[in-house]
Amino acid sequence: MNVAMIGAGYVGLVSAACFAEFGASVTCLDVDENKIERLNAGEIPIYEPGLEALVARNVAKKHLAFTTEFAAIIGGADLVFIAVGTPTRRGDGHADLTFVCAAARQVARHLRGYTVVVDKSTVPVGTARDVKRIIAETNPSADFDVASNPEFLREGAAISDFMRPDRVVLGIETERAAALLRALYRPLNLIEIPIVETDLESAELIKYAANAFLATKISFINEMSALCEAVGADVHAVARGMGLDGRIGRKFLHPGPGYGGSCFPKDTLALVRIAQEHQATLRIVEAVMHVNATQRARMVSKIRKAVGGSEAGKTLAVLGLTFKPETDDMRESPSLVILPALMDKGAIIRAHDPQGMDEARELLPHGVSYCDDSYATFEGADAVVLMTEWNAYRGLDLRRVLGLMKGNVFVDLRNVYEPEDMSELGFSYHGVGR
Ligand code: UDX
Repeated sequence: MNVAMIGAGYVGLVSAACFAEFGASVTCLDVDENKIERLNAGEIPIYEPGLEALVARNVAKKHLAFTTEFAAIIGGADLVFIAVGTPTRRGDGHADLTFVCAAARQVARHLRGYTVVVDKSTVPVGTARDVKRIIAETNPSADFDVASNPEFLREGAAISDFMRPDRVVLGIETERAAALLRALYRPLNLIEIPIVETDLESAELIKYAANAFLATKISFINEMSALCEAVGADVHAVARGMGLDGRIGRKFLHPGPGYGGSCFPKDTLALVRIAQEHQATLRIVEAVMHVNATQRARMVSKIRKAVGGSEAGKTLAVLGLTFKPETDDMRESPSLVILPALMDKGAIIRAHDPQGMDEARELLPHGVSYCDDSYATFEGADAVVLMTEWNAYRGLDLRRVLGLMKGNVFVDLRNVYEPEDMSELGFSYHGVGR
């Protein structure tokens, strides 16, 4: 089966490599010549564990190729996936569909023989139908169906999420399109992964609803963490006690500085806009976004309070800058809000991140000192702020940390350490909700 994947970004690259691993013959297309050149030279433009080896293996087997030449590839494909970016549109919070529409027009011009055009990007409800209209208008004789196949990949775990998903969602209109997509995903039948086959609009909405619900769990526990601090309860006990109820579930109840990344902030906002456009309101999702912003602001106050009421002139050793571990992605990272707020009030920042420092340099205000070694951040620091729970920060030599610091404050925004242990060691320890 010939698959064309348009977009060599996060979703496109991971999906292309995984479909190739399933045995399909996949060509990944992108308009960015530099990116394609790098990929052809074996260089992976993003940090995702396991991706480099997977790409190399499938390129060597000739199951996977990269090119900017759309015409021949689209013409020979059974399935064309659109996996281009859908960033938040400036000004109004809607998803920007410029790249999706451009891809649809380009696909339309080169279609030959029956082809299924599949939206993999996260797109507003109704986009698959728009893509269908664009293709039909651009090339009235094209023989095609559209489908929606949203992805549920987590950065840092994208390959295992693709290979062993909880489910596959297929929005389809014809049996012919369904048969091709089922055949592509056949390897997952062997491990009995449920396939949800539904209409286009439902498939598009499932993606947003799932992300909004996960964001809701996070904002819920973050709001509980504030209450726990006020009443003297331990949010971890609360989360465990709640989460063991099978109807609630234990996952995504970990408190922190608020969710970030390329999906939750963008998708909750886009979902609220979709609802507004259809004269519906999503009060819960609106509240989730509000709570997330509040949680970030609350972290700034927490750090300020921990260092004695003013961060002016205080040196903070910041561990982790990315929105979560195992990624170099800084998009919507809580650090981008929390650190500038502290620096505005005169805090001095010494920061380390295993993968995110190059991107952070572009996005954080000037004046942050970036340290190549995590222990270098502690030198002369008044406080440690553990921002992202990278494994490297879970087993710190805490006596050495204390020895390097000027002060003894440890603000753990991910609750990696145990409060009692930290107090015993001599830290003034501050977690979230405990
Ligand atoms: C998410 C979804 O999980 C995935 O299915 C979707 O396709 C894309 O968005 P991702 O953004 O890669 O994936 O990361 P995820 O692991 O879900 O974490 C998102 C954010 O929530 C991170 O900032 C993380 O720190 C935060 N989070 C997650 C919490 O604060 N608490 C939790 O319990 C879980």
